Amino acid sequence: MDLKGLRINSKRLRNSLEEMATIGATPNGGVQRLALSDEDKKARDLFVKWLKELDMGITIDDMGNIFGNRPGRNDSLSPVMSGSHIDSQPKGGRFDGILGVMGTLEALRTLHENKVVTERPIIIADWTNEEGSRFAPAMLGSGVWSGTLDRDWVYDRTDNNDKRFEDELTRIGYKGSEPSGKWPVHAYYEYHIEQGPVLEKEGKIIGAPKGILCLHWYDVYLEGEANQVGPTPMEGRHDALCAAAEMILKMNELPQRMGGDLVATVGEIQNYPNSRNIIPDKVHFTVDIRSWDDSHVLKAWELLRRDFDEIAGRRGCPIRIEETWQVRHASFDERLVKGILGIAKETGYSSLYMVSGAGHDASYMNRICPTAMIFVPSIGGRSHVEVENTRWEDCEAGANVLLQAILQSANEK
Ligand code: GLV
Ligand code: MN
Ligand code: MN
Repeated sequence: MDLKGLRINSKRLRNSLEEMATIGATPNGGVQRLALSDEDKKARDLFVKWLKELDMGITIDDMGNIFGNRPGRNDSLSPVMSGSHIDSQPKGGRFDGILGVMGTLEALRTLHENKVVTERPIIIADWTNEEGSRFAPAMLGSGVWSGTLDRDWVYDRTDNNDKRFEDELTRIGYKGSEPSGKWPVHAYYEYHIEQGPVLEKEGKIIGAPKGILCLHWYDVYLEGEANQVGPTPMEGRHDALCAAAEMILKMNELPQRMGGDLVATVGEIQNYPNSRNIIPDKVHFTVDIRSWDDSHVLKAWELLRRDFDEIAGRRGCPIRIEETWQVRHASFDERLVKGILGIAKETGYSSLYMVSGAGHDASYMNRICPTAMIFVPSIGGRSHVEVENTRWEDCEAGANVLLQAILQSANEK
């Protein structure tokens, strides 16, 4: 059989994506499938059902990661892995994460119906809680599996309603019996939408990122003094929300002040007691700083911390900071990245060597095995929003490149 000529079934891929998009569908065309929610469970059940139809060996570990194993000719050889995540952001899009899972499934369906036997086994993965928006930080499933994060620390993470990660994992029936932990992997691929504007701007279809920016997450807690807003003079107030507002603007100015490729964002804030006629006495907000240069982020954070301390002191609002998460930048395997660019050329798709600004499970996988990603364009560069969209032809193109990449690696002896 001409394996190089093998192509996925684009209609079937689209049907799978559209069926998945009905689970947690939001009124404006997106999805909300927060990690370990009822919607996550429903989508996992459907995924497992589809894996069973391919006669795959299914393993669910005690982090809720789902693995489907397609045996190879020689199962003593380390497997090729490919996957992404089923969970989404609140009011997220229909492609982030799920494209990589459904794209891999489509590649496996294509191998199955063509009775292709590869040298090495192939494992499809759905990683638990990639988004980190319900349970911070992100990439918890791959973090524990790769040996980077401690399982019991993750189990005790709570959401904004004080629900524990482990309790929610048990509740949806996905706390498997297998201890979560790595095995040798020959190559890891992750197929994903770009989530930014570069491919569209450059008019290219396939992106081959050289790696992923570093990610630093911090949680800031401020204390103020609550009081009646009417009788309390402006002078002498300890308004925690005003302190936060000043800090947020300082952070927004940081990239310009520092130069380089830095981006810095406050995306989440809780204000207490959140009443229009009470001076706020408690605020929590998050900080996300990213760059290709890890030391640049550390320097930026040092500056910002000093500003935060000055603001907190001046306004009489004690501050507590949690350094929640730091993931250093990931430089992908050059041979695999070149492989993606070569396959794009052979299959007739234009391509671009680029960088990933978004975080992915591939960041942790890159620490333990050769890793690469395949990107396709996001329309208007929009992602983590309900209007997130990617052309069906581009979904097909990326899945074809993924299929060929998997085949190439899985037939290496
Ligand atoms: C993952 O979704 C990220 O925050 O980049
Ligand atoms: Mn994603
Ligand atoms: Mn995401």
